[in-house]
Amino acid sequence: MKVSLIGLGKVGSAVAHAIVLKGLADELVLVSRRTEIAKSEADDLNHAAGLEDHSVDVRAGGDEAAAGSDVILYCDASPSTNIDVDRYSAARGNLQRFSERMPLLAAASPNAICVMVTNPVDVMSWFALQVSGFPPERVFGVGTLLDTARLRRLLSERLSVHASDVRAYVIGEHGQDQVASFSSASLGGELMKPDEDLMSLARQAADSAGQIYRTRGYTNYGIAGATMMILDAIRNNRRRTAPVSLRINDYYGVKDVCLSLPAVIGRRGIERVLRPELNDAEQATFHRGADRIRAAIDALAP
Ligand code: LAC
Repeated sequence: MKVSLIGLGKVGSAVAHAIVLKGLADELVLVSRRTEIAKSEADDLNHAAGLEDHSVDVRAGGDEAAAGSDVILYCDASPSTNIDVDRYSAARGNLQRFSERMPLLAAASPNAICVMVTNPVDVMSWFALQVSGFPPERVFGVGTLLDTARLRRLLSERLSVHASDVRAYVIGEHGQDQVASFSSASLGGELMKPDEDLMSLARQAADSAGQIYRTRGYTNYGIAGATMMILDAIRNNRRRTAPVSLRINDYYGVKDVCLSLPAVIGRRGIERVLRPELNDAEQATFHRGADRIRAAIDALAP
């Protein structure tokens, strides 16, 4: 499987390193306009790959090197993407670069699955659908998968259970109006009760990125891990259920926008979208996130 990674900033480098360590590609192409940097990064990663049992062949080049990709991981972002405010601060610059590059990337890999990583990921996923012309099952963003992992970790600590057994999803906007859908969350078949204690954990999970950003200036390992779960599901046809930013078709009245819903991810991309029931408060939060994303799309649309 050929995976092309677009953008080699802190997130792109963490994603590339994770792919090599986990062996989630046969060929990994680092696509950067800074081709000399990309080539030295490829050399360094090939040295790491040589120490692994699986063999990922890492190459580097400009956009043309991505031709014939099975998966495009889009991570290109201007450094000023400021999570602390609302992840939308660099939207215009990120979209500008994306709009210049994606048409040719898509034309050269017409059967690829495009996974958006760059923030604001819901807005970028929507434009990826428009610009690529790919069917909606092959264009989606990492969305609230990382938020879900953060919440599950907090719940596993609070409830003293393994995080993977916590069936709780964060859906909606990858941002301040993300929805911890506790009304459909369960542990061992027992429904969770969204009391103040769980809601405070949900607020803590939603602020996780901001806390890291305010001290370290960026996040990259968490988003790389979330991207690996998606890439593994595609490469190995895992049919994992993960909340990803996808085109919403009339969910609680929301449509024509990208937001995260749990979806079954396999070799062909999104195989099925799941639509959890929400209580009134969760629906209101979901709509607030949808309104923010719709407004951002309308403000940025060419
Ligand atoms: C975060 C970034 C990826 O939540 O939006 O860490």
